[in-house]
Amino acid sequence: MLSKDRIYSILSNEDPACLEDLIARAEAVRIKNIGNDVYIRGLIEFSNRCYANCYYCGLRKSNHQVTRYSMPKEEIVNLALYACDSGLQSLALQAGENRNKSDIDFIADVIATIKELTARDGSPGLGITLSIGEHDYHSYKKLFDAGAHRYLLRIETSDPVLFSTIHPPSQSLDRRIACLDDLKSIGYQVGTGIMVGLPGQNLEHIIKDLEFFQEKDIDMLGMGPFIPQTDTPFAHAGSSIIKDSYSMTLKVMALARILMPDINMVASTALQSVNPKGLSAGIKAGANIIMPVLTPELYRESYIIYDNKKYKPLEILEQEVVASGYHITYGQWGDSLHYFKRIEEKLR
Ligand code: 5AD
Ligand code: SF4
Repeated sequence: MLSKDRIYSILSNEDPACLEDLIARAEAVRIKNIGNDVYIRGLIEFSNRCYANCYYCGLRKSNHQVTRYSMPKEEIVNLALYACDSGLQSLALQAGENRNKSDIDFIADVIATIKELTARDGSPGLGITLSIGEHDYHSYKKLFDAGAHRYLLRIETSDPVLFSTIHPPSQSLDRRIACLDDLKSIGYQVGTGIMVGLPGQNLEHIIKDLEFFQEKDIDMLGMGPFIPQTDTPFAHAGSSIIKDSYSMTLKVMALARILMPDINMVASTALQSVNPKGLSAGIKAGANIIMPVLTPELYRESYIIYDNKKYKPLEILEQEVVASGYHITYGQWGDSLHYFKRIEEKLR
C-alpha cells in the first residue's frame, strides 16, 4: 500500500517520468479490477440557477452577468428519450443549487417521467445520476424514490480551513459531509471529488482528500483542475504551490485508482477543457466514466462554471476512448462495483 510519505514524494516530483510511471501502475490496477470498459452518462445541465455563492464558480448567486435558465420538463424529457434512443443507458442531471420545495418536486417529477417512459421490455429504464447540490434528507429521499440512484456532491476540499476560504460563511464542510452521509444512508451510490489547483491548496490538502475518500468509502469520484472564471472573486486566483493543475489532476486520479481500485471515476470536462488530450490521459489515469454534454447549445453558453469550457460530441469522445485502447460499453448501466461490494458487506 502507498504510504503518506510515498504519496507526498509522488505529488512533489515534477519529472514527467514519475507521472508516466504512476499512470502505468494505475492502468494495470484498473484493468485487473474493472477491465477496460468505459461507461457513458449523458449530461443534461437543466438549470443554471443557484442559491449558493461559491467564490470559484460562474453560476454563483451573486454573478449577475449570467443569463439564468431552467429547462422546461418537456425539453428535459425529450432529451432523455433522445439519449435512450441513441443507446445511452444513463443520464447525469446537473444544476445549480435550487433549494425550493417546488424545485425538488419538479425534478422528482422529471425523473419519474423519464423512468416511466424509458423502461421498456422489462428493462429498468435510464439510470439516473443527480448533481444538484446540498439538500435535506427528505428531498434526497424523494428524489431517490422517484428513481435517481446515484448522486455526485463534490466536497471540493476536505480541509475545513481551505473550504472556508473558497466559500462564504453560510456554506460549511460539515454540512456537505452530512449531505454525503444522508445520501449514503438513503441508498444512493455516492460520488464526491475535489478541484485541483485551488487558491491556497497544497499537497498536504490533497493527501488528506485521498484519505477522506477512503474513510468515507465513496463509490464514485469526479475531479478536475480549478479553472478561473472571469466574473467570480477568483478570476485571477490559483494555487501558488500547484502550478501545473492538469498534471496534478492526473496524478491524483491515478493515485485514487490505485488506492480505490473498484470505484467509478469520471474523466471530467474540466480536465478535457485545459488540455486537448485530457480525455485519453484521464482514461489512462483510471477514469472509466465519460459524460458527453447533451445540454442544448442555446443553454450551454450560460452554463459557465469556468471559462473556456470545451464540448466534444459523443462520436469524438468515443473515437478518442477507442484510440486509447479502451472500450465503450453500451447496454449496461455501469454502476460502481464498489457500491455492490459495500452493500454486500453491510448485509453480511
Ligand atoms: N473550475 C473548475 N471546476 C469548477 N467547479 C466549479 N467551479 C469551477 C471552476 N472554476 C466544479 C466544482 C463543482 C462542480 C459542479 O464544478 O467542483 O462541484
Ligand atoms: Fe452553485 Fe455548484 Fe457553482 Fe457552487 S459550484 S455556485 S453550488 S453551481
